Amino acid sequence: MTTGSSDHARTGAHSASSGSTTVITNIASLVTNDPSLGDTSPLGLIQDAAVVIDGDRIAWIGETSKAPATDNRVDAEGRAVIPGFVDSHSHLVFAGDRTQEFNARMSGRTYTAGGIATTVVATRNASDEQLEQNVTRYLREALRQGTTTFETKSGYGLTVEDEARALRIAARHTDEVTFLGAHIVAPEFEADPAGYVALVTGEMLDACAPHARWIDVFCEKGAFDGDQARAVLTAGRARGLHPRIHANQLSYGPGVQLAVEIDAASADHCTHLTDADVDALANSATVATLLPGAEFSTRAAWPDARRLLDAGATVALSTDCNPGSSFTSSVPFCVALAVRDMGMTPDEAVWSATAGGAAALRRTDIGRLTPGAYADLALLDAPSHVHLAYRPGVPLVSGVWRRGVREF
Ligand code: NIG
Ligand code: FE
Repeated sequence: MTTGSSDHARTGAHSASSGSTTVITNIASLVTNDPSLGDTSPLGLIQDAAVVIDGDRIAWIGETSKAPATDNRVDAEGRAVIPGFVDSHSHLVFAGDRTQEFNARMSGRTYTAGGIATTVVATRNASDEQLEQNVTRYLREALRQGTTTFETKSGYGLTVEDEARALRIAARHTDEVTFLGAHIVAPEFEADPAGYVALVTGEMLDACAPHARWIDVFCEKGAFDGDQARAVLTAGRARGLHPRIHANQLSYGPGVQLAVEIDAASADHCTHLTDADVDALANSATVATLLPGAEFSTRAAWPDARRLLDAGATVALSTDCNPGSSFTSSVPFCVALAVRDMGMTPDEAVWSATAGGAAALRRTDIGRLTPGAYADLALLDAPSHVHLAYRPGVPLVSGVWRRGVREF
């Protein structure tokens, strides 16, 4: 979706009329995420607001009564506008599904890292076209629900060829591509995990680094331990990839401390945290990315967002969309869960799903509606962003602009 370079963006049915300006007026409540623009809260709220889009960027933000003249005019008729969601954690390059595993879990079985191997088999057996179709389908779903930027990972190939293929497909759709060869130890290396880490940090990294921006590792019992995770991330960094990490999802462990130690952009999941983990995150530039779809779909205990926020950590909210632990592409659903069950206020949850996601991708040009930022925004069929949590499960996103182009 942040796809300046994608085939989609070049050939999509909608094209940005370059040089033309559009004003959206009569926005009952506008979330800018720029405190200097609005009510000084972190959301930088402006009532009865207008937004001017020039090409792919925001050109002006203010009150409707002060809006400058433009080529085109859209009347929001008292609805709310928020920045498009930044979904900073997804696993969209896969084939098959894991309905049976979900069913078994909802009948009492426990979620473990092991189920990933099922998707690895299906993904290896899929054609490029099937994988491409899947990615396109889930991206459309996400767009309908207000997501204008997404990160996505490899991790269901686990051979040099299959990982590189996944990244090539992902890179056609987003600039935020993550190499996750270290998702689990590939089945062929079950008896030789060190050999697999050597492959990931050697030949596989060589093949994958040109197609990715990020490197990730699943640091967890049943996946990779702290030393293996450090080896993977440092090798990736030496090849110009920036680290992020699946940390402390299913159990306490070294992932969060490692993330902070190596200045990872994000420690994702953060479900089992010691006080020292929370302190480390609060005193770092590493974002704690919470993925409530995973706890929902595995019936696990919720991460404690309140504890992280009260300590001063930066929190992002994302879907973790994947066929095993969180088969949802809906950021609004995650916002509602975070408010209901993780101690977040509606304001905090919306900030975390927009500006927080941008911080987890170390981006300042998305996740906010401020002059110069990309014109990525969602129009809600509601008078305020609070309705995203207040009206759970309701399709409130009634319009999306991405890079200045109205998508629907
Ligand atoms: O983020 N934790 C590791 N990876 C995914 C799970 C993927 C799967 O179960 O297929 C996650 O939850
Ligand atoms: Fe994940």
